[in-house]
Amino acid sequence: KAISSVHLANKEFPSDEYTNVTPKIISYLGKNLHLQKGNPLAIVRKRIVNYFYSSFTHRGNPIFSIYDNLSPIVTTKQNFDDLLIPNDHPSRAKSDCYYVNKDILLRAHMTAHQSELLRSGLDNFLMIGDVYRRDEIDSTHFPVFHQVDAVRSQRKEELFKDHPDLEIFEPAFDISNPHTFVNTITDPSKQSCHTLEAAKLMETQLKSHLIGLVYALFGKDIKHRWVDAYFPFTHPSWELEIYYDGDWMEVLGCGIVRNEILANAGPNNSIAYAFGLGLERLAMALYKIPDIRLMWSKDSGFLSQFQDKNIDEKITYKPVSSYPQCTNDISFWLPTTLTVDTFISNDFYDLVREIGGDIIEQVKLRDKFVHPKSKKHSLCYSIVYRHLERTLTQDEVNKVHKHIETAVTDMFNVTIR
Ligand code: PHE
Repeated sequence: KAISSVHLANKEFPSDEYTNVTPKIISYLGKNLHLQKGNPLAIVRKRIVNYFYSSFTHRGNPIFSIYDNLSPIVTTKQNFDDLLIPNDHPSRAKSDCYYVNKDILLRAHMTAHQSELLRSGLDNFLMIGDVYRRDEIDSTHFPVFHQVDAVRSQRKEELFKDHPDLEIFEPAFDISNPHTFVNTITDPSKQSCHTLEAAKLMETQLKSHLIGLVYALFGKDIKHRWVDAYFPFTHPSWELEIYYDGDWMEVLGCGIVRNEILANAGPNNSIAYAFGLGLERLAMALYKIPDIRLMWSKDSGFLSQFQDKNIDEKITYKPVSSYPQCTNDISFWLPTTLTVDTFISNDFYDLVREIGGDIIEQVKLRDKFVHPKSKKHSLCYSIVYRHLERTLTQDEVNKVHKHIETAVTDMFNVTIR
């Protein structure tokens, strides 16, 4: 339904063909679970902050500053352009982000604040907050989650304090005129502007600092591995995986900040690393929390298990009790303008969430079908309903399900089978 403006954080934003934030999503702004004492996300946040505060000090004072109250409403410049994310990059797609309009969106990662904080002159900082992404619906995905992002920069005097003869930059690179040098990333081990010594020393530090963090959270017995990765804003880049519950689980992305970003932020003679990690994944693994929706629980049976605890104490979540699931299928014929491959599943997931709210546990695609004669396309999804705090009646589920059928029919012009 067309709305001419979006009301957000006491402001009006003009809407346009990009607008896809929903009232339900808007209702999560300002909840700040990472700042709610006793929320598992706030406990993990605190443990991460403590690690950086105690490991990195200068004359007894922490060197990292913390930003955990930055507005999640950002520009496409902050979220993408400033981070060298190309115009045609898939992460900009309307199907993946919550846009307020074509210039403004709910940040999709905390890295969206990196450039502005660098520009303000900061060199070591953590950015913590809620991020928004359109995705599938299951026990590990929720459209709002929380990230800790960081930047650590060093100048030559600090990085090479034991080797004053070494340099951060290649001789051909002119610090006072950075834009005259084409900084390439074709060498997998470093950016062309950096010396191998600087890139390697930063990589070693980055990896050991992050392993230190994982050990501080999970204990020294945790198994880990590094996987080469690609991010437009770092080079080289890696992902860190830990072995948890019989499987490798990705916990963070990181790398050496592209020198263009540092140079665009102002005069620069340093090299920096950056990383970003998701708090939900860590909290779910640390405390054995089986469903991401529990982070939003107001139920005392849940919260009391985390409240008034020493944050370094081992906490294992004990399900208060598990209520039954209820699965209803929905199948529909698509209008002739759509095929099973052009139908945007994330649009459907958002609508299901918008109507079903937090009792939606999972939405699974069961079947894609093209009728051999009529050539009409049809889709079938299973919607799994479960309330986290009580038993749902079949009657109650049927009502919500009917409501979803009506809304899907109106919104996508489909025919329920
Ligand atoms: N922003 C990246 C993400 O959300 C994580 C990241 C941050 C990677 C900083 C590298 C450097 O996946």
